[in-house]
Amino acid sequence: MRSIILILTFLHLVFQSIQGQEWKVPDDKKGRLSTFAFDDNTRMAGQKLYTLNCMSCHGTPGKSNYLNLVPAPGDPATEKIQRNNDGEIFYKISVGRGQMPSFRSVLTSDEVWNIISYLRSFNKLYRQQVKSVISSTAYPGSTINMFIEHISSDTSIVVTAYAEKESSRVPVTEAGIKLYVHRTFGHQVVDEEKVTDKSGRAVFRIPEKMHGDSDGNILVSARFSDEDVFGTSSKDTVLAAGIKTIPVSLVAERAMWNNVRKAPIWILLTYCLGVIVALSFIVLVMVKIRDIYIVGKYLENKASEN
Ligand code: HEC
Repeated sequence: MRSIILILTFLHLVFQSIQGQEWKVPDDKKGRLSTFAFDDNTRMAGQKLYTLNCMSCHGTPGKSNYLNLVPAPGDPATEKIQRNNDGEIFYKISVGRGQMPSFRSVLTSDEVWNIISYLRSFNKLYRQQVKSVISSTAYPGSTINMFIEHISSDTSIVVTAYAEKESSRVPVTEAGIKLYVHRTFGHQVVDEEKVTDKSGRAVFRIPEKMHGDSDGNILVSARFSDEDVFGTSSKDTVLAAGIKTIPVSLVAERAMWNNVRKAPIWILLTYCLGVIVALSFIVLVMVKIRDIYIVGKYLENKASEN
């Protein structure tokens, strides 16, 4: 009797641990869909982002060369990940679990969708469903959009949010908006979170010394803080709001990590001096050995003379 109870308890524990591994996505998050259609451009953008952010753990899709973690990250080309619907993948990437990091503050919604579009290219059976209207509980039936502009005489970026329904357009008011600048690794937050005013405008101050590319351009992205209410409308726009920055090569000038021709003079001198000192020491030792030899010979001759 006791052994039966033991076995039952054991089975119960095993069952529980298997159940615990299942990653449940809240029902209201499962239906989220991309607002744009996946195409070669989105897949290419997604592949770049995947290589940068995901490959270290999930490996190359289709190669099953993911990291050996518990629970396993899994190969995105396989059933483990493909059986999720788009909303579930979106949720899992955004929120993360255990060793899978949250990408909420690293990637914009559009970037997450680009990654999903890349992952779906490994699934022949996949047919995309696009959500044409961004529904919002605050503006039912409307499409919510944003417009980002920079007034060159000014040091601010203005984001205007509006809801469109048929031909009427109303400002989206009292919506929290965050502004990001794309950098090589992740995003830099610009200013604090702002709330749209009566005309749907949120004004962000550009910090001094905001570096752009060689033309002073920056890629900014605005996002509603409360995406449950306002939807995942995000807007990526290139603005000439940064300081022109010419990237300086690390090997352009004489420096310690440079090759011989561009090493700093003092390093070359110190090195040569070191070599000379070491060689002179060796020569000195050889001269002394020769002296010992000569003295030895002399004493030998003297001994034989006697
Ligand atoms: C530090 C390692 C790591 C990185 C980086 C990482 N993941 Fe994961 N990922 C994991 C692990 C571990 C799991 C399994 C988590 C679990 O089941 O609790 C996982 C699970 C997932 C799942 C859910 C799989 C399922 O069973 O439903 C998806 C989807 C996913 N990752 C996508 C991504 C994407 C896309 C990226 C890049 C943006 C990424 N991951 C980056 C480690 C990582």
